[in-house]
Amino acid sequence: MRTQVAIVGAGPAGLLLGALLHRAGIDNVVLEQRSAEYVLGRIRAGVLEQVAVDLLREAGAAVRMDELGLPHGGFEMAFGDRRLRIDLQALTGKQVMVYGQTEVTRDLMAHRQASGRPTHYEAENVQPHGYDGERPHLSYRHGGSERRLEADFIVGCDGFHGVCRATLPAGALQTFEKVYPFGWLGLLADTPPVNDELIYGHTERGFMLASMRSHERSRYYLQCSLDDKVEQWSDEAFWAEFSRRLPADVAQRLATGPSLEKSIAPLRSFVAEPMRFGRLFLAGDAAHIVPPTGAKGLNLAASDVGLLARALAEYYRGTGPGRSAGIDHYSQQALARVWKAERFSWWFTSLMHRFPENGDFGLRMQQAEFDYLCHSTAAQTVLAENYVGLPLG
Ligand code: FAD
Ligand code: DHB
Repeated sequence: MRTQVAIVGAGPAGLLLGALLHRAGIDNVVLEQRSAEYVLGRIRAGVLEQVAVDLLREAGAAVRMDELGLPHGGFEMAFGDRRLRIDLQALTGKQVMVYGQTEVTRDLMAHRQASGRPTHYEAENVQPHGYDGERPHLSYRHGGSERRLEADFIVGCDGFHGVCRATLPAGALQTFEKVYPFGWLGLLADTPPVNDELIYGHTERGFMLASMRSHERSRYYLQCSLDDKVEQWSDEAFWAEFSRRLPADVAQRLATGPSLEKSIAPLRSFVAEPMRFGRLFLAGDAAHIVPPTGAKGLNLAASDVGLLARALAEYYRGTGPGRSAGIDHYSQQALARVWKAERFSWWFTSLMHRFPENGDFGLRMQQAEFDYLCHSTAAQTVLAENYVGLPLG
């Protein structure tokens, strides 16, 4: 089998790239190691930046998002007993869209099916080859037989644990990593959200986030110990702890109910440089991870593939040596945006979580930072500008 662009991974990065390439008339095949149901079962991000919203629209996969997504013009911060609303609309003229990753993935899957471009789910032992030369290809096992997919380019959209980054020769990549000493315990429930807008809270007992998926579905998070096991957290224990961490007046409105999903995610910052090696590109979580505070993970995956799709379209439209300019600049351009999102996610995580190992001095620094935010429109604008997302470039 032969295609122009072979994509490894059918998460949001792989599917959005496939949709954008399809739009540009570029042939592509997606190989995914899991089943479609498994991919849809992963509950992850919930907030889309304008750039991601625009790319979904450009791809022609935004009808349901525009119908069901919730535009949010601001969010709240709670710090001890103090509160601050960040008015995104007033500070930046922009909003964000609350629309779950599950729904984004579902929409992109439906779009792909309608486009007729192939996706091979449950592809085993996918291996990239020949990307340092002119004839890259993927070998894999599907439906009981060994297969080979030849392509002009391979794109690794296969997440943090994927095969593409892992197969690059030692020394080809420089990696940067910071692991945080806590996790997030998340709970999804069909209960009306406790607040119209998201609330990010720093409390003595740890961080909390009140988010949502719709007017009927809540998504809540608690900072937890890395030693915690999800089985140790009954729904009752979650609700009791969450209620303690909410501002008192908000807690009175909390509606509880059985969880639809509960999971613990570790927090990590990670970047691999560069994001291109010969005819192999990395995009999304395959190249970088942010801690979830500020919801940048999915958005970065979208902006990477937005840049890459543009560069590949230029390549296939063009003639002569100049047509490679976009793909030659992809890594540098994407990383410039990635590092700014890394900085923001690290900063927001550092401000809003409890770090007992940083002692009283660390806590006073966090309090001073929050106080500064409360009294400085300039500081709020910096936060808002990063939260709604930086331009694609
Ligand atoms: P992924 O979604 O990871 O997709 C990669 C795909 O590649 C997967 O479908 C995988 O099965 C497939 N794959 C892997 N290896 C292979 C292989 N060898 N062969 C073929 N296919 C392969 N972000 C936020 O902004 N907010 C959140 O609240 C949030 N919560 C998260 C919770 C968890 C537990 C995790 C893991 C991430 C969370 N994120 C969150 C991050 C966000 O979900 C990711 O940034 C986003 O999914 C990145 O998309 P992606 O397509 O790059 O990678
Ligand atoms: C969600 C996750 C985040 O990390 C965030 O900053 C906002 C919302 C969510 O899952 O809804």
